Amino acid sequence: MNNLTNKHIIIGVSGSISAYKAPDIVRRLQDFDAKVKVILTKGGAKFITKWSLQSISKNKVYHNLWDEDAEFGMRHIELARWADAILIAPASANTITNISIGKANDLLSSVVLASDALLFIAPAMNLKMYQSHALQNNLSILINRHAIIIKPGSGEQVCGDIGMGKLAEPSSIAKQVFQQFISTKLTGKKVLITLGSTIEAIDPIRFISNHSSGKMGMELVNTCIESGALVTCIYGNITTTLNTKSNNISIVNAQQMYDKVMDNITNQDIFIACAAVSDFSAKNTKNQKIKNDRRNLTLELIPNKDILADVCKLKEKPICMGFAAETQNMLKNAKNKLKNKGCDVIILNDVSNANFGFNTDENEVTFLSKNLNKKIAKSSKKKVAKKILEIFIKEYL
Ligand SMILES: Cc1cc2nc3c(=O)[nH]c(=O)nc-3n(C[C@H](O)[C@H](O)[C@H](O)COP(=O)(O)O)c2cc1C
Repeated sequence: MNNLTNKHIIIGVSGSISAYKAPDIVRRLQDFDAKVKVILTKGGAKFITKWSLQSISKNKVYHNLWDEDAEFGMRHIELARWADAILIAPASANTITNISIGKANDLLSSVVLASDALLFIAPAMNLKMYQSHALQNNLSILINRHAIIIKPGSGEQVCGDIGMGKLAEPSSIAKQVFQQFISTKLTGKKVLITLGSTIEAIDPIRFISNHSSGKMGMELVNTCIESGALVTCIYGNITTTLNTKSNNISIVNAQQMYDKVMDNITNQDIFIACAAVSDFSAKNTKNQKIKNDRRNLTLELIPNKDILADVCKLKEKPICMGFAAETQNMLKNAKNKLKNKGCDVIILNDVSNANFGFNTDENEVTFLSKNLNKKIAKSSKKKVAKKILEIFIKEYL
């Protein structure tokens, strides 16, 4: 297999006990025919010597920011320009923190700061260190900058603790890097996806919401990420697992979803509005629980802002895909939605059938655009997501 031919990958080896696995990572990337150079941090050099990495990578191992041999002494710029990807594996807590705050006090952090290359981070550390708020916060900062985190594995650690924090397997690390380079028309595209349901408070106890689970949207997130897109996921109430490779932003109600979409929409190539946003919210949310005095209660609802319609009105609008959950006059309602909101694609979702659609693992939808009216047969949400994006790519990219 040689699908990373001509790809230049820098492996940053930092100070984790699992640095002994770095030569194997170099090997596995070479199996894909990648050209590999290694930067060894001061901490990394405590665990592995440059000699073994040098022999295996068949390149000089770099460790010194102040390098007499570099052209004009600027080794960090030379390496930053050389790299198509920088993979930090193992990534120590210290190196992750340095990079998250933009430090440039050693060769590796300076190269990362000076490079536009894809950044992969494979953390390896004690589970308490990995779970700490500080480390998780720093990883979130890096995910926001579209770094790709290669999740550590779980199991017995060298320190005796059992849990998450072991460096991912070298073959899995190499595969995840490789997958990012399988070029599709979505590779490098910025995609903003909303998903899940919103929760509109009536009082501190009660709320208006709906049955959306977020599963359909999450499969779109997963498929976009697998295709190399840079995904921002704005999610409400969901019963599914987030993808750690997207920039995930949590909201509760429709107004918050509107605000977060508008905060993040600039420079997005594609907007997929899959969230089931409540059309209405209570006019006067009560601060105290409404007492049950056995009399009828009239609740005044006001319409929420229409996120999809407002994104479609933007001067520099992304390509917009909306979802229409309908129970009757489905095609007519969906076509109206396509026209009235001014969006490019509507995915019509028949939610009158309890066997698929809301809160299930399967779906059956219709892809509607100006030129297309294509039914996607009932299947798993994963397969439906792939089909939706396949048709979308053919029509728009
Ligand atoms: C025996 C030993 C094992 C260590 N293992 C790890 C580890 O697995 N992960 C980690 O983040 N730090 C670990 N550390 C701490 C780092 O090596 C230390 O923070 C160092 O400054 C990291 O330097 P660097 O990020 O520049 O490579 C270890 C320290 C010692 C003494």
